[in-house]
Amino acid sequence: MCGIVGYVGSQSALDVVLAGLKRLEYRGYDSAGVAVLADGGLAAAKKAGKLVNLEKELVDRPLPAGSSGIGHTRWATHGGPTDGNAHPHLDNAGRVAVVHNGIIENFAALRAELEERGHRLSSETDTEVVAHLLAEEYSACADLAESMRLVCRRLDGAFTLVAVHADEPDVVVGARRNSPLVVGVGEGESFLASDVAAFIAHTRTAIELGQDQVVELRQGGVTVTDFEGNPADHRTYHVDWDVSAAEKGGYDYFMLKEIAEQPKAVADTLLGRIDAAGSLTLDEVRIPDSVLREVDKVVIVACGTAFHAGLIAKYAIEHWTRMPCEVELASEFRYRDPILDPRTLVIAISQSGETMDTLMALRHAREQGSKVLAICNTNGSTIPRESDAVLYTHAGPEVAVASTKAFLTQLVACYLVALYLGQVRGTKWGDEIGAVIHELSEIAGAVEQVLDTMEPVRELARSLADKNTVLFLGRHVGYPVALEGALKLKELAYMHAEGFAAGELKHGPIALIERDVPVVVIVPSPRGRSVLHDKIVSNIQEIRARGARTIVIAEEGDEAVVPYADHLIRIPATPTLLQPLVATVPLQVFACELATARGNEVDQPRNLAKSVTVE
Ligand code: F6R
Repeated sequence: MCGIVGYVGSQSALDVVLAGLKRLEYRGYDSAGVAVLADGGLAAAKKAGKLVNLEKELVDRPLPAGSSGIGHTRWATHGGPTDGNAHPHLDNAGRVAVVHNGIIENFAALRAELEERGHRLSSETDTEVVAHLLAEEYSACADLAESMRLVCRRLDGAFTLVAVHADEPDVVVGARRNSPLVVGVGEGESFLASDVAAFIAHTRTAIELGQDQVVELRQGGVTVTDFEGNPADHRTYHVDWDVSAAEKGGYDYFMLKEIAEQPKAVADTLLGRIDAAGSLTLDEVRIPDSVLREVDKVVIVACGTAFHAGLIAKYAIEHWTRMPCEVELASEFRYRDPILDPRTLVIAISQSGETMDTLMALRHAREQGSKVLAICNTNGSTIPRESDAVLYTHAGPEVAVASTKAFLTQLVACYLVALYLGQVRGTKWGDEIGAVIHELSEIAGAVEQVLDTMEPVRELARSLADKNTVLFLGRHVGYPVALEGALKLKELAYMHAEGFAAGELKHGPIALIERDVPVVVIVPSPRGRSVLHDKIVSNIQEIRARGARTIVIAEEGDEAVVPYADHLIRIPATPTLLQPLVATVPLQVFACELATARGNEVDQPRNLAKSVTVE
């Protein structure tokens, strides 16, 4: 949420900052702005709307290149997406510029104070107060980093701040509390950004900043302190992907590329985690096996798509470990006084590793003495840093706002954790688990197979572009898959879409079925748990009898569904618990194609932003 870039070096700061913003635009696209330091002064430009509007403005009214600069792409919180509310915000003298991600909760009191002292604030944002406070502190100490520390101590809430001052043309200062900020270290140049994608074209050496830290960037290096000015610990790491991973690579949309990357993402997430003997080797789970053996309950916290991965994980964990597992929306979790203790294992699932709701939930869990295991896709992010252990998904950077490959890899990681818990606890360990591990090691091929047969799904999606509603039904692990299919359609196609547990249909939702309403049904495997299969076949008949247009996703060879399917989408046979890995893929393709057919922006759906760093 909100993309931030800062640069100090010998290249054109304006060019570097604009290129960085382009890579971060998925974090927010309401407005954009830049400020550069050049010729002893500070020059800024900002514009409502997408980055392209700012670029046009810069053609009409060019800025100097500068040797340091900052930039911002916004997802509005305080004040609408107008030119005036766009960042950067400047003090009255136009000497300080600041960009911000997060929410400053005490901004109203600070603003009143500043106005009393004669400052004129012109925007509706919470950010502008910071520019004025920095200017005041700077006039006393003439040191931007020190001014930032003094200001941060007065702020409540969550923030990433990046600022420049005209009197320090070779310095950019950043600060963070509960909001992401990483440093890039190049040869004679340094970068600050909300995530590494902004500077990956220049350097793959990054520094992870801790909580409540201030960083001062100069051409020659980087200084990190806490808010009191004491030197602070920070971790330097190598980013394990390169610039090509953050580009569309010939696809029209990042989402299409990311859907296509799923077989590799799944295979990469399994890599090195299953040994030759078919056992799991999750060395990075630093929670000792002795502690895992004592766990008596698992609680999963996550949001959105990651929450759906958690819902599926519940089936696997309970089946393979015989431990109770609860799955909670992170935003609800800590407000209902959950029962947690040191024997509860909390799993926090997050692609970005920065989702504020999930972060707050895990902090709450740790305060109660529970161990937290993060499942995360982003190295250097806050959620893994604050957890007791982390299992990284290896999906590579996910740029499209709608999550696809991250979801599949979250599922893989959840299965690995469930199986690992089974392994260390000795529950249910035997032929079934061994067979599942074997199937898991082959699942990337099955995902590939699904992707190869998606043309009819695209055709079907296009034919439904004028519909208002699509419903999704599933049972068992197919139910969260139905929820995920509906979420994808809502966020991309802006259609009314709902997922239901098929068994609940008769308790109300069946009233929604009318002639020609498309209903997507995820059918469990007819093998093994055939009761489940038979029940859903009955559900399909019930809705079809009421006029629904049935779109049936069923395993190859499942002939029982054929007479009741208006459209049949085949997926490879997999063990029931793993079926979401293949059943979700057609739903992603379906939503992407429907959005395109309706003329929507696939990678940047309206009102959304990737990485939700406010509560
Ligand atoms: C939906 C989507 C969101 C995220 C949710 C959690 O396509 O992308 O629902 O899944 O905001 O984000 P992370 O996983 O970054 O915590």
